Amino acid sequence: MPQIPEKVHELTVGQLSARSGAAVSALHFYEAKGLISSRRTSGNQRRYSRDALRRVAFVRAAQRVGIPLATIRDALAELPEERTPNRDDWARLSRAWRSELDERIRQLGRLRDHLTDCIGCGCLSLDTCVLSNPDDVFGERMTGSRLFPERPARERTSDR
Ligand code: FES
Repeated sequence: MPQIPEKVHELTVGQLSARSGAAVSALHFYEAKGLISSRRTSGNQRRYSRDALRRVAFVRAAQRVGIPLATIRDALAELPEERTPNRDDWARLSRAWRSELDERIRQLGRLRDHLTDCIGCGCLSLDTCVLSNPDDVFGERMTGSRLFPERPARERTSDR
């Protein structure tokens, strides 16, 4: 891993990539999504503060456990004055995300348990296939295999 001298307070995108393990394209994506920020040099090159390393580590750790980027961004935005998350922040946020993860694990367990029914089947029935309709979302609102709720007649005639 490349070492960055202590006196260097800003990192190029390549240095941030090498130190964080995130691809340059991922860093650009994080920046576009408002998860990290940089300043531009007179030559229009990105420079990141050293704090960006901790923010990228935070984002990657959260992503690894399946937290959506929008949720991560909201969590970072809650920190006072866009402070970089510290150990206490991570502990607090990971506690808050635990129930979300528990629910996701429960859903995945259900899918896994029913997967053997689907192997070699291919029907993808909305009535019986748990992969096709894992939460039976349509069964609660309507019968049959309709994916879209009925639209008012006024809207249907405007399609013609
Ligand atoms: S594909 Fe037929 S039950 Fe899932």
